[in-house]
Amino acid sequence: MTLEAALRSAVGSQHVLLDADLRASHETDWTGRFTGTSRAVVRPGSTAQVAEVLAACHEAAVPVVVQGGNTGLVGGAVPAPGPACSAPVLLVTTRLTELGPVSAAARQVTAGAGVTLAALTAHARSAGLDFGVDLAARDSATVGGMVATNAGGIRVIRHGSMRDQVAGVEAALVDGRVLSRLQGLAKDSTGYDIGHLLAGSEGTLAVITRLRLRLVAAERERAVAFASAPSTADAVALLASLRAKLPGLSAAELSLPAGLALTAAHLGVGVPLQGSGGAYVLVEVAGQADPLDDLLAALEGCEQVVDATVASSPADRARLWALREGHTEAINAAGVPVKLDVSVPADRLAELADGLPGVVSAVRPDAEVVVFGHLAEANLHVNVLRAADAAEEVSDAVLTLVASLGGSISSEHGVGRAKARWLGLSRSPAEIDLMRSIKAAFDPLGLLNPGVLLPDGDCV
Ligand code: FAD
Ligand code: MLT
Ligand code: ZN
Repeated sequence: MTLEAALRSAVGSQHVLLDADLRASHETDWTGRFTGTSRAVVRPGSTAQVAEVLAACHEAAVPVVVQGGNTGLVGGAVPAPGPACSAPVLLVTTRLTELGPVSAAARQVTAGAGVTLAALTAHARSAGLDFGVDLAARDSATVGGMVATNAGGIRVIRHGSMRDQVAGVEAALVDGRVLSRLQGLAKDSTGYDIGHLLAGSEGTLAVITRLRLRLVAAERERAVAFASAPSTADAVALLASLRAKLPGLSAAELSLPAGLALTAAHLGVGVPLQGSGGAYVLVEVAGQADPLDDLLAALEGCEQVVDATVASSPADRARLWALREGHTEAINAAGVPVKLDVSVPADRLAELADGLPGVVSAVRPDAEVVVFGHLAEANLHVNVLRAADAAEEVSDAVLTLVASLGGSISSEHGVGRAKARWLGLSRSPAEIDLMRSIKAAFDPLGLLNPGVLLPDGDCV
């Protein structure tokens, strides 16, 4: 039997896409920067079908690239370009949409890997609870992809990253065996935590098929403010001050003038602040009682605030959030960016923000640098426009600066194909050796997402 026949037998002909037109949207990433060709796009509808697809590919020694919502920003969910490798099968998880009942006692729910963040959040809210992670790609990003990248987003200060939400994992191994640990035990000390190992593994170890996820208490009331400060250093000082005064702080997001202007123009709106700041901070506070007065009082006492506006209705809150969340689309509308997601110790954030334009212009004088991010985690999204043909040099300059400040080359998007070459800037040789040993234990033939995360792993 050919591999194609085995795939059809596993998932049904209608879910094996061989036609180039049908495969196309799966073969290019969200930014348009990463693209490659697959042998077939396969859409299994159950764990058993995922396992069968993997077993068939394993038998044929054909690589498999795993894709969820394809909103990843480091090229990890699409095939590599070029003829060097045999074209992989692209395994898409978006039909794994089963959502179990919410357990109010455990505050947990079981979700298929292909459930979108928006669907999960709505499900949790309908049971009077909430999900702790949120990000702008919520309508398409899947919980499987979010665990695989250890996604962060806008509420990490409150509830942590995606890894922190994982109470259990079901996953299919490369040869078709299935690991299942979905009981969601609150206590379990029986050795290595394989589920947590898959968080941040970017599809290189196994295909996550279902997740047992933690839920959080729903916070009924929210208040949002948008404030300007003279500089990034002042924004960092403002965060310290707000953290001390506002125990309900649930988001602190950073915009800089270039990105804010680009986003406001893209949305066709004005910036609701007087004068011009060197940095802008969106602050959200959440709680059971209306936190608006607390937020106003906290801002009034902050010497770093030049001007501030506070949202008094859900529509106003959404308008302020749009100015922050709209950055990604505004940047993409301006061109294909070289996107780098990095973090540094909080005390070095201003140094990083101030140093970025210089290191980029040294390698690409006419490039435009648009920076924004998650202030609370000292996580900057560095987007370089008009530099697509100098992606390697620009990435090298930015990531070298980040490493010199003691930072991470990937704060929340993962390493993917985009940054595999630079993994050694954030991980020691001993760590990379161990990561390779773990990869070899899960995937001895190197069939799962070759070239993603670990350097030099392109071909089998
Ligand atoms: P994909 O893009 O399909 O895949 C991402 C990686 O996970 C790939 O390596 C893939 O192989 C692997 N993978 C996917 N599913 C599985 C699975 N079931 N098993 C094993 N491996 C799998 N990210 C943040 O962290 N914070 C943000 O604030 C944020 N905001 C964003 C805003 C926008 C507008 C966009 C477009 C993206 C944003 N992202 C953000 C990036 C992206 O949404 C996240 O990386 C998300 O986790 C990707 O989920 P996905 O389902 O789209 O995964
Ligand atoms: C965000 O915080 O909006 C994202 O992670 C997306 C991006 O970096 O563009
Ligand atoms: Zn982000």
